Amino acid sequence: MGGILIKGATIITVENHDDIIPGGEIAIEGQYIVSVGPAGSAPAGFVPDRVLDAPDMLAMPGFVNSHTHAAMTLLRSYADDLPLMKWLEEKIWPLEAKLEEEDIYWGTMLCCLEMIRSGTTAFADMYFHMNEVARAVERSGIRADLSRGMIGVGPEAQSALDFSREFVSQWHGRGNGRITVRLGPHAPYTCPPDYLKKVISLSGELNVGIHIHLAETKTEIEDMAKRYGMSPIRLMDSVGLFELPVLAAHCVHLDDGDIEILAQKKVGVAHNPESNMKLASGVAPVTRMLEAGVTVGLGTDGAASNNNLDMLEEMRSAALLQKVSTMNPLALPSFQALRMATAGGAGALGMAGQTGVLRKGLKADIILMDTRKPHFFPRHDWIANVVYAAQSSDVHTVIIDGNIVMEGRKVLTIDEDEVYEQVEARAKRLTGIK
Ligand code: NI
Repeated sequence: MGGILIKGATIITVENHDDIIPGGEIAIEGQYIVSVGPAGSAPAGFVPDRVLDAPDMLAMPGFVNSHTHAAMTLLRSYADDLPLMKWLEEKIWPLEAKLEEEDIYWGTMLCCLEMIRSGTTAFADMYFHMNEVARAVERSGIRADLSRGMIGVGPEAQSALDFSREFVSQWHGRGNGRITVRLGPHAPYTCPPDYLKKVISLSGELNVGIHIHLAETKTEIEDMAKRYGMSPIRLMDSVGLFELPVLAAHCVHLDDGDIEILAQKKVGVAHNPESNMKLASGVAPVTRMLEAGVTVGLGTDGAASNNNLDMLEEMRSAALLQKVSTMNPLALPSFQALRMATAGGAGALGMAGQTGVLRKGLKADIILMDTRKPHFFPRHDWIANVVYAAQSSDVHTVIIDGNIVMEGRKVLTIDEDEVYEQVEARAKRLTGIK
């Protein structure tokens, strides 16, 4: 059985800073990478069905968007430049209340389209009507870790647990293993300890991880201190949440003790610099977390608070934000930022042995970037060019799970025009604006 051979590309494996192979080749068989190396390194007897000649291309692992709410693309640029609670209560929540199942499907399709076109090959999502999200993920060919957002106070507390149980049994491992499922307690201020204990017990029973928002705003820190006398991180530790695999979005407001807990309990953190800047939440102590050994990935958060899902831009923002906030130009250097956007995200999602770097035996989640562009010359430093100069429109070809999902900037799994028509019509219905 043949596979795909990528030939002549400059390969950035993202294993180590200097692992750059000029004119290299990557052999792919089925879902897997079977070799990564210089010209002529493909295994003897490997006969590809497809050869991708890529002399002016960079080959890299695809980006891992470690925290988003996919269908919030429908709310993109609907409400901006507002304080968080006013934004949520007056704009976002009323519109979300009108979302129907099919809206979620098309909003997620728009998200998948945008992510594939900008080189993202895997993402972590938390939202509702998750069967529709899973359908869109399965169809688009992307890899995703999905969780239904659960609110522990109010009428849907129990039904969210029941739904999640069913959702795990229906979707966990589907799409050739591309789809994984977690439980998604929304946040400590919407899920009190008694409810979290139910979530923890279900998670243990189903053997799946947790996706939660933690320590996003100062208000949350003050609120938790008032209610429980401790930080959100210590509260989660005390209820036993961190005994499970946890993906924690944001982690903006942390003290040294919190960081120590995150490192010790191997909590995966999703850092969302643009959303944190736009909502004026603060600056996450990324450099300190990395120094302490915390696994940190990068996420865009939902498109309503970003307003795009562009991981190249997110990576650049992350690096620049650490530098300016610490007044240290050495903070978060380019390779560390690139690691966060790829291997770090894979680690935070529990996919470290599957994706995030280019290595024999891992799933073939690979992007080719066209470097015959002015901003890629001269070529002093490939990694600095990717992190500080590249544009998402440079992403030329995207391979996910061994399948070519985009080639020559044409997405092969999604009808783009149909997505745009559906999204426009639905956005008009939601807002009542013609
Ligand atoms: Ni979020």
